[in-house]
Amino acid sequence: MAALFPSDPRTPLLLLLLFVIISFSSAAKIGETCSSDKTCDSGLHCGGCGDSPAKCTRMQPIDPKTKDKGLPFNRYTWLTTHNSYAMDGAKSATGSVLVTETNQEDTITAQLRNGVRGLMLDMYDFLNDIWLCHSFGGKCYNFTAFQPAINVLKEIQSFLDANPSEVITIFIEDYVTSPQGLSKVFNASGLTKYWFPVSQMPKNGGDWPLLSDMISKNQRLLVFTSKSSKEGSEGIAYEWKYVVENQYGDDGMKPGSCPNRAESTPMNTTSRSLVLMNYFRTNPNNTAVCSDNSAPLVSMLNTCMKASDKRWANYIAVDYYMRSDGGGAPEATDIGNGHLVCGCDNIAYCKANATFGTCDKPPKAPEAPSPSSPGAVPQGSTPSSSTSGMSFFWRRLLAVVVPMVTGFLI
Ligand SMILES: *[C@@H]1O[C@H](CO)[C@@H](O)[C@H](O)[C@H]1NC(C)=O
Ligand SMILES: *[C@@H]1O[C@H](CO)[C@@H](O)[C@H](O)[C@H]1NC(C)=O
Ligand SMILES: *[C@@H]1O[C@H](CO)[C@@H](O)[C@H](O)[C@H]1NC(C)=O
Ligand SMILES: *[C@@H]1O[C@H](CO)[C@@H](O)[C@H](O)[C@H]1NC(C)=O
Ligand SMILES: *[C@@H]1O[C@H](CO)[C@@H](O)[C@H](O)[C@H]1NC(C)=O
Repeated sequence: MAALFPSDPRTPLLLLLLFVIISFSSAAKIGETCSSDKTCDSGLHCGGCGDSPAKCTRMQPIDPKTKDKGLPFNRYTWLTTHNSYAMDGAKSATGSVLVTETNQEDTITAQLRNGVRGLMLDMYDFLNDIWLCHSFGGKCYNFTAFQPAINVLKEIQSFLDANPSEVITIFIEDYVTSPQGLSKVFNASGLTKYWFPVSQMPKNGGDWPLLSDMISKNQRLLVFTSKSSKEGSEGIAYEWKYVVENQYGDDGMKPGSCPNRAESTPMNTTSRSLVLMNYFRTNPNNTAVCSDNSAPLVSMLNTCMKASDKRWANYIAVDYYMRSDGGGAPEATDIGNGHLVCGCDNIAYCKANATFGTCDKPPKAPEAPSPSSPGAVPQGSTPSSSTSGMSFFWRRLLAVVVPMVTGFLI
């Protein structure tokens, strides 16, 4: 293409063409169809869901610390992955073929980078070590064993080392019976320096320490076990002394009801300061999860809030956290944080350091698909055909053809 000078009479025309090209080739927005992560706006994930075309979905919640980090820890909502370690396509570290369900599609490190702050890990005694495993009749086998827990604990340790303001919670589904088995593996992982002591956890429904204090004291790892005896023997908090938790699996997905799981006290037990909401199927289904993690998830968040004495969930646990029809589990997390941090419908409307209940106006909606609320895609909306009525394919094609023609003309 010939060099252009400011005096060149063709310059305005070319600038106009460039403008047109750039507008037409802009990346796809939340809920629009896409072909890869790169074709979505930055920070979005391009995910497929069964027969429908892949759409750009959110994979990261808004960091609530950017609005206020001086609140008690129980005034925040954290995105949590169920069976965080059970990744699609994983190979068993035993060398065996894995014959078991998977619940996520990226590594623990990738999850943490995306803002996941609650991890659910199933731990077993296996091959003279502690392993992350799915149970088959309560036992770990080579074909259900993912990897030694130490590997994942070290990933968590590296993340906490590199990100000194982040706080992570681990929920252990604990099948470990070897004496001091968990203590040994946590000692070996280098995570004990971040340990939040059981002695400082509120026992009677009081507020947790401030998030900012937990950060400055470097007490940035909360660990809960499902075995009550470990609190006395190893100083690992027995989850249901501190947390109420709803039923998991299909029985926890019935619209309009939020029963507690058997081990937990009822959801409205206010002597437990933290609320955990599960929302995932008994048998993970990586296509059905796209609709599960959309409007029904937000609906259950409201149902569980009401069942929990008007307390918003502190943890929202899902399968395939990046999958949805748009806003997904990150959006649900933003809603929880909005209510807990500043009394607004979404953390996006919280003003930094403002009085509780002072909310920003919802930001101006992007051109398409026009969200009813910011960051939220109307549930069940079809991928937008955008203002120009052009599909993604045609916009891309134009972006290639127009410059060619322009070059030819010039
Ligand atoms: C399970 O895997 C371990 C480690 O690779 C191996 O030593 C053992 O023989 C395997 N067990 C069976 C039953 O295949
Ligand atoms: C873990 O480390 C602590 C502190 O160094 C030590 O007191 C404890 O005995 C260790 N536990 C095990 C099981 O190794
Ligand atoms: C708490 O919830 C239970 C149902 O799980 C209900 O029977 C009970 O009345 C509720 N208590 C209060 C104080 O609301
Ligand atoms: C998974 O969900 C889809 C609907 O999204 C359904 O068609 C399919 O049968 C389900 N698969 C299983 C194994 O249940
Ligand atoms: C909010 O308060 C914190 C701590 O006092 C301060 O660092 C931050 O700059 C404030 N943010 C705004 C937007 O005023």
